[in-house]
Amino acid sequence: MAREILSAIASPATTDQPTENVSTPSRISPRRSFIKGMGMVGAALSVGSLLKTEAEADEHRRFIPIGDAAILRFLAAAEILETDLWQQYNELAGIQDSEVPGGSGNEAYTEAVAQLDEDMAQYIHDNTDDEMTHELFINAYLVSKGAEPVNLDRFRTLPSSKATGAQQIGRLTNLMQLTVDTTWFTRYRSSSQNPDFGDVLPQAIPALAVGQHPAIPRTDADLQDSNFLQAIANTAGFHFATIEQGGTSLYAQLAQRVTSAEVLRIVLSIGGTEIMHFQTWSDKAGNAPPIPPTVDPVTGVMVSFPDLNAPPLGGEDFQTNLIMPEPTVFLNKRLPPVSIIRPTKTNGAAMGALKALTADGLFIGQSKAFFNFMRTLAIEADLARRENF
Ligand SMILES: [Fe+2]
Ligand SMILES: [Fe+2]
Repeated sequence: MAREILSAIASPATTDQPTENVSTPSRISPRRSFIKGMGMVGAALSVGSLLKTEAEADEHRRFIPIGDAAILRFLAAAEILETDLWQQYNELAGIQDSEVPGGSGNEAYTEAVAQLDEDMAQYIHDNTDDEMTHELFINAYLVSKGAEPVNLDRFRTLPSSKATGAQQIGRLTNLMQLTVDTTWFTRYRSSSQNPDFGDVLPQAIPALAVGQHPAIPRTDADLQDSNFLQAIANTAGFHFATIEQGGTSLYAQLAQRVTSAEVLRIVLSIGGTEIMHFQTWSDKAGNAPPIPPTVDPVTGVMVSFPDLNAPPLGGEDFQTNLIMPEPTVFLNKRLPPVSIIRPTKTNGAAMGALKALTADGLFIGQSKAFFNFMRTLAIEADLARRENF
C-alpha cells in the first residue's frame, strides 16, 4: 500500500506550491502590517530586506535541511515498525475491516484482551490505522521534498502467529518473545523523579521485565489455559502503553533538533497522537486483572500480574485511576514541579529508542542487515542539529 500511495505523489515542484509559496501578495501583506506593529525592533528591518529573506527562504523550502530529513527518515522507520506490530495485534484482537485489513480475529484472545476494557478492539484498530497513516504521510512528505523515503520490506522475514486469525506473512517485529519495560507506570506517577535526571523507576509488572513473554497467542494451544491466555492479553495491554510511551518521548525529543517550521509542525502534530495513544493505553493497562504465578507451557517462563492497587504499588501515589501525568521535576530541580511527558532529553534519542525497542525483544530473529540499517538511520537522526535556516 505504501508503494501505491508514494507512486501517486506528484513531483516536489508541485507538492510544494500550495503551502509554501510565500511570495504571493496574500502572504506578504500580513507580514507588512506585522512590521508596522513591530515598533523599535521592527524599525531595524526594511521591507526590502524582509522580501529578500523570504525569497531565499522560499528557495530553501523546496527542500528540507539534511538533518530534518534524517529525523523524518528515522521516524518513518519507527512508524513502519509500529504499523507492523499493531497490525499483528489487530489481526487477532482488533476490528477487521477495509481500513485495517488482513486478519480474521481470534475470539478467545479478543475476549481476554477485552477484560481490560470492552472497547479494546476498537482502540487497537484505531491505533493501527493511525500508525499506517503516520508511516505513509512521513514517507510521502519526504518524497515531496526530494528526500529518500524509507522502505523496510526486505526485512519482512519474521514468522506470523500460527493462531487462528493471523494472516501468514513475513513480519518485521516479533510479539511472541517480549521483555516488556513497565516503568512508565511508576514514572508517570512519581512527583520527584524523572529519567532525564538519571532516575530509574521500578517496574509495575516485574515478571514482564525478565524472560520472554508472548503478547499474542503463538498457536491455538496458547488459548487453552485461561490464566495463561489472560497473561498473554495482559502482556499486550502493558506493551501497548510501553510502545506508545516510547513514541510520546521520541517525538518530543527529536522535535528539539528540527530546523524547518513545517517539519516541526509535522513532528508536533504526529507526536501529539502518540501521546493520546499512550494516555489511552495507560488507562487500560491499569484494568489488567491480577494473575497468580503461571508457567508458559512452551518455554517454562513464569509470569504473574500483581494487584496494582495493593502494596508495593497502590495507595495515594499508584492507584490505577491516576492516569494524568503527576507533576515532577523538569529541567532544573530549583524550578517548581510540572506535569510533563518524560523523558524528553534530546541527545542520542533515536539510538535510545532503537535500543529500547531491541531490549523489548521486538526484533528477535531479525537479520544483521536490519540492525545495521536501523542503526544507520538512528545515527543520522542523532547527528541532526537545529540550524539557522
Ligand atoms: Fe505513530
Ligand atoms: Fe504510536
